[in-house]
Amino acid sequence: MRLILVGPPGAGKGTQAVHLAKYFKIPHISTGDIFRANLKNGTELGKQAQTFMDRGELVPDSVTNEMVKDRLGNADVANGFLLDGFPRNTNQAQVLDQILADKKMPLDAVLELKIDNAQIIKRLSGRRTCQECGAPSHIEFEKPKVAGVCDKCQGALYQREDDKEEVLTRRLDIYSEQTMPIIKYYEKFGLLKNISALGDVTEITDKAIAALK
Ligand code: AP5
Ligand code: MG
Ligand code: ZN
Repeated sequence: MRLILVGPPGAGKGTQAVHLAKYFKIPHISTGDIFRANLKNGTELGKQAQTFMDRGELVPDSVTNEMVKDRLGNADVANGFLLDGFPRNTNQAQVLDQILADKKMPLDAVLELKIDNAQIIKRLSGRRTCQECGAPSHIEFEKPKVAGVCDKCQGALYQREDDKEEVLTRRLDIYSEQTMPIIKYYEKFGLLKNISALGDVTEITDKAIAALK
């Protein structure tokens, strides 16, 4: 299964990706998680990404595309992959097409998670993210067993800088301006499936699997 998850900030891409990656036995590749891991480790890539992430804007394609190309060079993508947060504009989609064409690894599907803005704000204002593995949880909707501690790896939970209201508004605008066009792009190729991102996490996972089969 070679899959892209697309949807606005807070749609639940990261949450669903964990379950879908496990179900299909494929690596979960989140460009946001890779940038945040680099930021945490103080790498050059992290420094390049930080100013853009703090403003809720896209990291330049030159940086992002190279990073993804590099990641898709790993042997673990032989049985497929789940891309979360990439591509995010038409140029990235075209570059990805070229990378996959060169590797003779065509995409199987693009799954869109649909959600309204009011729900997005509820989700992101209560989100907590694991400092170690990047897994999201929620102080009300997806409570960790122990407050402040990641269920998956026991890492410490923190609140993402870009979940603050001003930055969040910018992220939503960028999504409509730059990312929505790729939905049409994939629809043209007959790859698009969409499901509602509202409801229980497990319900949504079941709907996603049904849509992908
Ligand atoms: P990125 O990390 O990709 O952020 P995003 O797209 O804005 O998406 P989020 O991670 O905020 O939301 P999500 O859909 O994963 O939701 P989640 O599962 O956490 O990107 C961050 C930044 O990095 C970008 O702004 C940009 O600067 C840069 N970047 C990344 N990729 C790039 C690219 N390709 N090009 C250029 N720049 C790039 O869920 C949200 C919350 O809701 C959680 O608290 C969760 O517990 C809760 N929740 C989930 N599902 C449910 C449910 N069913 N019911 C109730 N609560 C739920
Ligand atoms: Mg995410
Ligand atoms: Zn963790």
